[in-house]
Amino acid sequence: MRILINSGFFLKQSVSTTPGDNDEEGGEGYLLAPASRLLLKEVPLSLRSYLLAAMDPVMLDPWQHMSKWFQNDDVTSFYTTHGKMFWDMASQESKLNQFFNEAMASDSRLVTSVIIKHCGSVFEAIDSIVDVGGGTGTVVEAIAKAFPNIRCINFDLPHVVDGLVGTKNLSYVGGDMFEAIPKADAVFLKWILHDWSDEECMKILKRCREAIPSKENGGKLIIIDMVLKVDEGENDLLKTQLFLDMRMMTLVTGRERSEKEWAKLFFDAGFSDYKITPVLGLRSLIEAYPS
Ligand SMILES: C[S@@+](CC[C@H](N)C(=O)[O-])C[C@H]1O[C@@H](n2cnc3c(N)ncnc32)[C@H](O)[C@@H]1O
Repeated sequence: MRILINSGFFLKQSVSTTPGDNDEEGGEGYLLAPASRLLLKEVPLSLRSYLLAAMDPVMLDPWQHMSKWFQNDDVTSFYTTHGKMFWDMASQESKLNQFFNEAMASDSRLVTSVIIKHCGSVFEAIDSIVDVGGGTGTVVEAIAKAFPNIRCINFDLPHVVDGLVGTKNLSYVGGDMFEAIPKADAVFLKWILHDWSDEECMKILKRCREAIPSKENGGKLIIIDMVLKVDEGENDLLKTQLFLDMRMMTLVTGRERSEKEWAKLFFDAGFSDYKITPVLGLRSLIEAYPS
C-alpha cells in the first residue's frame, strides 16, 4: 500500500470512532483516489480497457527491443519485435484489433463527454462531419446524438468498421485515409496525427483538405492531440507527454508535437490559420482552417 499511496492511487484516511463503536481508538482506511476510480470496470467513463491495452505484452515488448532496433534499419521497435507494422498486425489479429478498438473507445467516451459539454460551439454551423480514423465510432455516435442535424460519418480501415450499422444521421465507411476521405464540412481527427511522421501527416492533411470546403464555406479540421509545452520548463503534464512521445516512436512512426511543429504542418499542407484550446489536460482541441 505504501507505494500505491505514494504514487497517488490510494488516499489514506483516518477513521474516527463513532458513537456506539466498541473500538477504543480510530484507525486508518484507504480510499481510491478520484483518478483511480476511472480504472473501475463499472464506472460510466471507465478507462480500464485503455490501461489493459497499454499494459498488454504486445504493446510493452517493443520497449525491451529498443537497443536491437537502434542497431537496425527497421521503421519502429514494434516492427523489430513483431516483424509487422502495428496497423498491419491489428488488421490480421482479431484479438489485438478488438482490445485496441475498445481501448480507444474508452478514451473517446471520456474525451467526448468533455468536448460536447465544454466545446459544443465547435460543432455549430457545420452540417456534416467525418471522423477520420474514428475507430468503432464512439465520437460520432455522441455527436450524432447531441447534434441530430449534423450528418456524421465514421471513417476507418475496413476491418475496423466491418459490420457496424449506422443510424439516420450516422454512417460507417471503410477506406484508407492516405487514398481519399469522404467529403464533409469538418474533418475530425482524434489521436491520428500523432501516430504518423511529418511526411505521412502531410499526405493525410492533403487528403483532409480535399475533403472539406474553404474556410468561408465552413470548412475546418477539428483535432484532438497533444501540444508539447517543452519551452515552458518542467510541469506536471510534460513528463507524461514526453512518455507518450516515446510511445509513439516505439509503436508507430509518430511523435508528439509542439505548437511550432503543428503550425509548420498546417501551413505546409495548405491551411492558413489555426486555434488551440487546451481543454483536456494533456491534450488540446485544435481547429485548423483551410485557405
Ligand atoms: C490511435 S487510433 C484512434 C482512434 C480514434 N480516433 C480514437 O481516438 O478513439 C488510430 C485509428 O486510425 C485508424 N487508421 C490507421 N490507419 C488508417 C488508414 N490508413 N486509414 C484510415 N484509418 C486508419 C486505426 O484503425 C485506428 O482506429
